[in-house]
Amino acid sequence: MFKLFQWLLLDLAATLACLSFCIGNNVSYDSNAIIINGERRIIFSGSIHYPRSTEEMWPDLIQKAKDGGLDAIETYIFWDRHEPHRRKYDFSGHLNFIKYFQLIQEAGLYVVMRIGPYVCAEWNYGGFPLWLHNMPGIQLRTNNQVYKNEMQTFTTKIVNMCKQANLFASQGGPIILAQIENEYGNVMTPYGEAGKTYINWCAQMAESLNIGIPWIMCQQSDAPQPIINTCNGFYCDNFTPNNPNSPKMFTENWVGWFKKWGDKDPHRTAEDVAFSVARFFQSGGILNNYYMYHGGTNFGRTSGGPFITTSYDYDAPLDEYGNLNQPKWGHLKQLHASIKSNWERRFSLTAPAQTRTLVALNADENNDAIVDMLGDRKYFLPAWSVSILDGCNKEIFNTAKVSSQTSLFFKKQNEKENAKLSWNWASEPMRDTLQGYGTFKANLLLEQKGATIDSSDYLWYMTNVNSNTTSSLQNLTLQVNTKGHVLHAFINRRYIGSQWGSNGQSFVFEKPIQLKLGTNTITLLSATVGLKNYDAFYDTVPTGIDGGPIYLIGDGNVTTDLSSNLWSYKVGLNGERKQLYNPMFSNRTKWSTLNKKSIGRRMTWFKATFKTPSGTDPVVLDMQGMGKGQAWVNGRSIGRFWPSFIASNDSCSETCDYKGSYNPNKCVRNCGNSSQRWYHIPRSFMNDSINTLILFEEIGGNPQMVSVQTITIGTICGNANEGSTLELSCQGGHVISEIQFASYGHPEGKCGSFQSGLWDVTKSTTIIVEKACIGMKNCSIDISPNLFKLSKVAYPYAKLAVQALCSHD
Ligand SMILES: *[C@@H]1O[C@H](CO)[C@@H](O)[C@H](O)[C@H]1NC(C)=O
Ligand SMILES: *[C@@H]1O[C@H](CO)[C@@H](O)[C@H](O)[C@H]1NC(C)=O
Ligand SMILES: *[C@@H]1O[C@H](CO)[C@@H](O)[C@H](O)[C@H]1NC(C)=O
Ligand SMILES: *[C@@H]1O[C@H](CO)[C@@H](O)[C@H](O)[C@H]1NC(C)=O
Ligand SMILES: *[C@@H]1O[C@H](CO)[C@@H](O)[C@H](O)[C@H]1NC(C)=O
Ligand SMILES: *[C@@H]1O[C@H](CO)[C@@H](O)[C@H](O)[C@H]1NC(C)=O
Ligand SMILES: *[C@@H]1O[C@H](CO)[C@@H](O)[C@H](O)[C@H]1NC(C)=O
Ligand SMILES: *[C@@H]1O[C@H](CO)[C@@H](O)[C@H](O)[C@H]1NC(C)=O
Ligand SMILES: *[C@@H]1O[C@H](CO)[C@@H](O)[C@H](O)[C@H]1NC(C)=O
Repeated sequence: MFKLFQWLLLDLAATLACLSFCIGNNVSYDSNAIIINGERRIIFSGSIHYPRSTEEMWPDLIQKAKDGGLDAIETYIFWDRHEPHRRKYDFSGHLNFIKYFQLIQEAGLYVVMRIGPYVCAEWNYGGFPLWLHNMPGIQLRTNNQVYKNEMQTFTTKIVNMCKQANLFASQGGPIILAQIENEYGNVMTPYGEAGKTYINWCAQMAESLNIGIPWIMCQQSDAPQPIINTCNGFYCDNFTPNNPNSPKMFTENWVGWFKKWGDKDPHRTAEDVAFSVARFFQSGGILNNYYMYHGGTNFGRTSGGPFITTSYDYDAPLDEYGNLNQPKWGHLKQLHASIKSNWERRFSLTAPAQTRTLVALNADENNDAIVDMLGDRKYFLPAWSVSILDGCNKEIFNTAKVSSQTSLFFKKQNEKENAKLSWNWASEPMRDTLQGYGTFKANLLLEQKGATIDSSDYLWYMTNVNSNTTSSLQNLTLQVNTKGHVLHAFINRRYIGSQWGSNGQSFVFEKPIQLKLGTNTITLLSATVGLKNYDAFYDTVPTGIDGGPIYLIGDGNVTTDLSSNLWSYKVGLNGERKQLYNPMFSNRTKWSTLNKKSIGRRMTWFKATFKTPSGTDPVVLDMQGMGKGQAWVNGRSIGRFWPSFIASNDSCSETCDYKGSYNPNKCVRNCGNSSQRWYHIPRSFMNDSINTLILFEEIGGNPQMVSVQTITIGTICGNANEGSTLELSCQGGHVISEIQFASYGHPEGKCGSFQSGLWDVTKSTTIIVEKACIGMKNCSIDISPNLFKLSKVAYPYAKLAVQALCSHD
């Protein structure tokens, strides 16, 4: 009878699925739920930005998101990538967001589409194409007709593409929510009345597109109705939407943080992320989106700034390469399952008070608490934690108790052929610019991104100075006031120095120089390192030497202002124009074998070949020894590199306390090391045989230290309490080859340094764990005293700790 009922239910579910597929899903909401086809739901969602990985990586990332208990995947739409030139669109390769959404739907997940089209996202220029900047009369993100026309044209195009592919839930597709604008409320005040007019226009424009699902705006406390305003931050439990009928949604729960050149590695603990999520649902939240679930890589010149690194790992549940970042991924997976089990009874604000007490909060940063559950049972609640209980004595989950496995990865140089790369080099051709020849001239110092339209990081500024008296040659100093981000200076073809500000800020370059009688050439190369992506009027913040001033300061402070000299300009490098980074065209210059003289040269191209590492582990380029520049594999950019930029070594510590409010300076790692030493080479960038690696080195480095490596899982650990299940899994096809430590009882320490405690059983435990795990890709052990043939009385509150090794031969 029961079986029959189950089959009927299954049948009914299938019919409903078909119905929804055939005629579309009705997405609505009230203050306590998202309602999809009449079913009241909560949603766990995660940000995975399609251009930050490759098409080939998408299916695996989506599957891991699903396995991690997500219902939806969120992404922005990246305008600058899709419309690099006005009305010339690109939706190919990893920009094929339609295919991405279809894959998400095939996996059975929803999509939250945040069009923006301003996206911030630590993405170059916040996702705006640079051609917008130079349109006559334009002002971005305000009540400006030129801008609004462009925004509407692009937004409409994206919406129409989705409609054509039947991707909105109302059409049977996966998209359940769409966002217009992005965190405008954070910066709105300086835009004045025009800002208010603009945000109302955004709302009307979006609504007029008739997509049949709700629109949202994040960080917009005055969101025009019916648009739902949502919250971004580390914690959003105190957030209330501006309309009492709107559901409470957390569009960006920052699971870690982004990194700038010179920064340490951010780390937000699994305990604290889980705490934030549980508190949010406990206070009536119904959608939580992890920003990021997979951060990925800023390929090419897509990183924002200034100074955002190429890696956008974010300490997300899936690391930059797509590996599970454990224990974070597993801990959140368990959290999702426990919040979903009986959500409506335990969490919903409409639930009866007695059942809602089955979620217990201790928001104290320091002190554990004993709470009296319904007056009949005392319950221990660690500081800064939320417990989800089943009845008054059984804990289903506590945010501060991490039982999922820890995984430690290491980098490995595993192919003999790649042990030592053999390098060739070629100078960047600079004859023209060092002699002052450009392609256009002006009697002023130009703003950089306006002049380059960001077609390159580089802009050359060149001028001539005549000296006709020897006295004018004495004790000269060149002073360049620049808005950043990086400056290299040459006088009469000789290099005199380089400089950059911290975080890509403005700075003053000052250097004693020597001129000669007659004509002298001053050549300045200014480089941007990711255009600003956030703040009021961020788009107008100048870059490059922009007005300078540039002075020659002589004896007695006699200064000559060179700012309105006749300046020659050239956009980009000759090597870029010749495409020396592309193996097809790299023969456009003469390459020589690397020798001592060519090591440490600035403005130099380096070329080597390497064999694709076997297996499926992610591949990285160890750029130790290099300075700053950009790297390409088979002509495809893997991003800017700057391993010579060292993170300061203060404020790292061995311990990291999950308790208390998180901020990005807390629990940082990698002090005193390269801010980013390893660079992801997606496997799809490589071919079956030999690959060509080309580097452009701007400030000098030693390519002999560069190597191709794989990221391999090494040690894995589990540490779980009696009554639960300890699960271990090697990723990427590896199997458990050795149990290095196993103890049941009161083992102490953490992964890498477990020790026996006062009471424990190690020998027989090791045998049992070995039996269950050796040679397996994964194994699980239900922890009970019986298994270890012990009486429960002797070992109260026992746990099992295991450290194992995954094979890597
Ligand atoms: C969608 O569902 C809501 C509430 O469940 C209901 O009020 C509305 O009429 C439905 N819309 C359609 C088109 O079925
Ligand atoms: C020297 O150069 C300065 C500035 O270029 C000019 O004003 C002056 O007339 C020149 N003197 C001679 C003797 O050529
Ligand atoms: C150049 O500057 C130095 C130090 O400021 C000073 O001692 C020297 O006399 C100056 N030379 C001339 C020719 O003025
Ligand atoms: C030269 O000018 C700078 C800045 O205006 C000032 O700090 C410095 O004292 C001056 N030096 C002399 C010798 O006048
Ligand atoms: C460079 O190589 C390409 C093909 O590999 C060839 O078509 C082209 O003629 C070569 N150019 C030069 C200058 O050798
Ligand atoms: C610096 O890097 C080395 C090598 O990767 C590593 O062993 C060390 O732990 C790092 N230092 C810090 C403070 O993270
Ligand atoms: C850390 O920084 C201090 C001061 O900058 C320096 O003296 C010390 O050598 C550095 N230590 C390491 C390990 O880099
Ligand atoms: C593989 O790499 C080699 C060396 O760069 C290149 O000649 C060849 O065209 C590449 N093949 C593909 C399919 O990219
Ligand atoms: C465990 O490994 C087996 C193969 O050994 C595989 O079929 C299964 O999917 C794995 N389970 C998990 C949860 O990884």
